[in-house]
Amino acid sequence: MTTDTTTAETTAVTTGETVLDARGVTMRFGGLTAVRSVDLTVNSGEIVGLIGPNGAGKTTFFNCLTGLYVPTEGEVRYKGTVLPPKSFKVTAAGIARTFQNIRLFSNMTVLENVLVGRHTRTREGLWSALLRGPGFHRAEAESKARAMELLEFIGLDHKAEHLSRNLPYGEQRKLEIARALASEPGLLLLDEPTAGMNPQETRAAEELIFAIRDKGIAILVIEHDMRFIFNLCDRVACLVQGEKLVEGTAAEVQGDERVVAAYLGEPFEGDPGAAEVAEVEAAEAHAADAEATATASDTDATADATPASPATPGESTSKENDR
Ligand SMILES: Nc1ncnc2c1ncn2[C@@H]1O[C@H](COP(=O)(O)OP(=O)(O)OP(=O)(O)O)[C@@H](O)[C@H]1O
Ligand SMILES: [Mg+2]
Repeated sequence: MTTDTTTAETTAVTTGETVLDARGVTMRFGGLTAVRSVDLTVNSGEIVGLIGPNGAGKTTFFNCLTGLYVPTEGEVRYKGTVLPPKSFKVTAAGIARTFQNIRLFSNMTVLENVLVGRHTRTREGLWSALLRGPGFHRAEAESKARAMELLEFIGLDHKAEHLSRNLPYGEQRKLEIARALASEPGLLLLDEPTAGMNPQETRAAEELIFAIRDKGIAILVIEHDMRFIFNLCDRVACLVQGEKLVEGTAAEVQGDERVVAAYLGEPFEGDPGAAEVAEVEAAEAHAADAEATATASDTDATADATPASPATPGESTSKENDR
């Protein structure tokens, strides 16, 4: 590895400074509140996990942090400064991300994909690029050297000239991380970095994320693989239906019955969706009672002809068809 990397390693982890400070972030899409008043901080030297069932609002929250969405309410600060809601400005400020669905340039080489990630950090302007003067060539050589260094760091330097579409899935995910690192971030957001990976690849991804943290980059990671999350993270927050339900150390969150219930889909006291679940269950119970009563009166010839409830056998049949 080159001297640059060694410098980054020696500057490593200094915990305490608040890198990310999201306050009251709310995102509504029409009538749907995908994220509701979420507060979350990430400090330097930390790996923070964001978990929650499908559709909980995790990716939407990331999109609010990175300027892809303008939050309906709330504020996001990076190292004390409020972030402008524009992706390229957020990247320039120091936040990089990977995507839940891999977004590489499939017809570009592995090296070129990393170089794309560097453009926010290259100072050479349009004229320099067009005239291709000495400044341009120097900047280009530096960018290439840094990109190769990052490929070496993730273990893909030997595939620098391969087309990214020819990489196995796990390597594409790693390449996305290298591309994100190319913008020299202070905070890295990873959206399901191990999705589709086998257990060995997942273990390797874990080591890679620790190594990134050790370079002094704070990390916020979304994952469904609980073993991975609880092994990796200093702190974990759980979103359920857009709200932050629980936040604590891995051990605290792991043992929290509300988190278990959220994943198993069981309602619990104070669950944002509990009232809705109770309403549906009551309606189903009522329909089942009505059906039972109607069946009883059909089979019992001596029974009173008037049904006990407005639900008729015809209605319950059509409900069956709706399911
Ligand atoms: N652009 C959008 N327009 C309308 N609704 C959206 C949009 N983006 C997300 N949603 C809705 O917001 C909710 C949260 O979605 P989101 O993708 O953030 O969930 P998630 O926690 O990342 O889920 P998963 O674990 O499946 O990736 C979902 O109901 C989703 O349908
Ligand atoms: Mg998601």
